[in-house]
Order: sequence, then C-alpha cells, then structure tokens
Amino acid sequence: MALTKAISKLRTLSLPLRFESNRVSASLGYSAVNNLPRVHCKRQNHTFRVEAPVSYDQGSRLEVQIPRWPQALNFPYVWLRDHCYCERCYNSKTFQKMHDIYDIALNIQPLKVTAGEDELTITWDDGHISTYDYKFLWQNNFEGRQYSQKSKKELWTGTTFPSADQTTVPLGDIVGQGKGLKKLVNSIIKFGVGFISEVPPTVEATQSAIEEVCIVKKTFFGEMWAFTANLEHSDTAYSTEYIGAHTDTTYFRQASRIQAFHCLQPSAEGGETLLVDGFNVANQFQHLHPNGYKFLSSKPIPSEYIEEGRHHLSLDYILKHDPVTQELTQFRYNIHDRAPLSSIPLHGIEDFYAHYHNLTKLVRMEKNEHWVKLEPGTIVLIDNWRVMHGRAAYSGNRIMGGCYLDEDDFASKARILNVL
Ligand SMILES: [Fe+2]
Ligand SMILES: [Zn+2]
Repeated sequence: MALTKAISKLRTLSLPLRFESNRVSASLGYSAVNNLPRVHCKRQNHTFRVEAPVSYDQGSRLEVQIPRWPQALNFPYVWLRDHCYCERCYNSKTFQKMHDIYDIALNIQPLKVTAGEDELTITWDDGHISTYDYKFLWQNNFEGRQYSQKSKKELWTGTTFPSADQTTVPLGDIVGQGKGLKKLVNSIIKFGVGFISEVPPTVEATQSAIEEVCIVKKTFFGEMWAFTANLEHSDTAYSTEYIGAHTDTTYFRQASRIQAFHCLQPSAEGGETLLVDGFNVANQFQHLHPNGYKFLSSKPIPSEYIEEGRHHLSLDYILKHDPVTQELTQFRYNIHDRAPLSSIPLHGIEDFYAHYHNLTKLVRMEKNEHWVKLEPGTIVLIDNWRVMHGRAAYSGNRIMGGCYLDEDDFASKARILNVL
C-alpha cells in the first residue's frame, strides 16, 4: 500500500523516464524510522532514498541516485562524457586525459543508460561506451565533495597543545619511508606541528631526516641553513633579540609551507621557541570581530623583503580561504615584513589598523602562547601556513639549523600517505 502511494507520488514529480532503470519499481526506499516510502521533492533537487541504483534522463543531464548516497545527483552529459576514463579517453600510464575536449559536443546525448549494481554504463550517440564506478561519481563532483571533505585540523591553545606522544616520532621510525612518517605528516596536518626525535645534531643529519618528508626548498637563504646571531641576512632571525609570533616568507607569492628548526647548539640562557596556533587565533578573531575577519580576508596587503641586490614583494590576504569550500587555508602574519600600505584606499585605512590591532591583541594573548625549549636531537616541523613561531631573547652562542619545505612537495606527500 505504502509503495503504491509512493509510486503515485513519484509520477507527480513528472520525471521524464526516457531511460528505464532495471528496477524503477524498487527505486523508492523506506524510512528507517517509520518504514514509509521516502520521497522528497523540491523543484530542483529532489531527493529520495532508493534500494537499488536508478537514473533518469533530465534533458541535458542524467539524474543518478544510489542507495548509499544521501542525495540524488544531476550530472550534465557533457561532464559525464568528459569524465570517461576508458583506455581511449585516458592514458593510465601517464595519468592524463587523452581525448580532445573540443571534440565533445556541448549538447551530447546518450543512446542508452544502464544503472547497474556497481556501475553506470552510457552508450553515447557516436557509439562510444563509458562506464563509471559510483564511488568515482560521488567523490569527484562538487556536491559529493561537500559531504566528504571534513577538516582534519585540531586547534590548540597554550594549555591544550598536543602531547609529545601525539606529535613526536623517533628518526628510526621514518628512515626509509618508515611507518612513523604517516604519523609525523598527520600531526603536521592535524596540529600544525610535528617533531622528529633522536636526530644527530648536525646539518647533514637534519637534512636527511627532513628529506624523508620531501625535498628541501631552495630560497635565497640556501637549502639548509644554520644561523647564529651574525646578521648575515637583513632579518631579525639573525640577531639575539626577542621575536614575537609571526609566520615566515609572507613576502613570497607563495609562502613556504613548512618551517623546520633543529637547535644544533642551545643558548646559555633564553632562546625558547614560541608557537601560536594561527587558525585558533583566526577562530577567536572571527567570533569577536566578524567585520574585522571579513576585512582581513578580503583586502590584500603588501609584504616585502629587501637586502642588497634583492627585493621580494607580494600582495595577499592575511586570512586566506579555499576558493571552493571557503575553509581557512592560510594565516599570514608578519608585522616586520609589511610593505607600504598602498593596497587599501585612504578612507579604509583606519579600519585596517583597528582590525589589525584587534588581531594582534589575540596573537599576543598569553593563553594562545605555547613555549618550548628546543634541544639538540629534536627537529620541529611547523606548518607555516597555520602556526606562528617566535623566540625569547637569548645570550650565548646559539646555533639554529633548519630549512623550508614547499607547499606542493609537502602536500603531495600528505596525499600519498592518505592524510590529506
Ligand atoms: Fe621566523
Ligand atoms: Zn572513453
């Protein structure tokens, strides 16, 4: 009885059933709560639960619904044809599309569609046959990704900084792409920091440990650097002064993704490292100052680095977001590397300073600060797109070694390890 009612409701949706699925009558599911047929209808995106895969022609699109999907998806035929991964359309040795997109008619139509148990098969009007795994269809379209992409980040303050057993991996566990590498990279993705312990305190050993993650980024600082207070570069890092929380290389068009530090020789006194979770600061800022958050997310400011024979300049937002998901992807904060503020009209300048002032207040709040004394033997890897670093003033002959890793190389490794 309930099924009959549901079928008549389905008829009222007036879906053009040009392609009959093998089990249209079974296409209506039942609610787990009251066992009634589940038919949801909104004008555009009607959603209903089904017991077996079904598909309906919708003119220029194919509506597909399978039991485990929370909603039906409408795939334009041109998208489906472009996403054929058969051996004529895709070279699985080079992982590249082989067909010419210009050859696909924008109004392409199928001759036949079969929604099978595990895959969808389409015969196109030129006779070409395409098959699609349902998992592929779900994971590779905008709507499906909105469901499956969940942030893996855990924000922290000074008191909730993750424990060593969550963040630290001994060198022996990552050598030769060992199992510990996944834990290390996952810690960097999740907390913005990861530590490698039991590393000999030399530049060479530091480099080979870090290269288990990815190749070292070459900048004008070199690849591996070991700095002491000699002002070799025109940067406060090369002094003994206190340095407040900041992110590095805001003056590059793409800031270094990871900053690695290894204290090769500790200072006699002071020199503790400061870590502040920029994403947590951004969260607090958005909550307390929503207008400020919007302003610093949408008004780019210039940053620069100048020394003899060199002038780097970038123009970017302090708070950067994913253009599709709108998720915060980068926190860029460096008060010293700000260039003359010519990117904001004069009438908006007071607003900028007020918002930047409010943000700075949160950056400097004691509750957000985590201080750590880096010792020879332990490398810290910091997500420079999220976690700010700084250091206490020090005396004595401290030697800090380290390097940068590039976003593209680090993210590639994170994907290979399935933590991104
Ligand atoms: Fe720095
Ligand atoms: Zn094909």
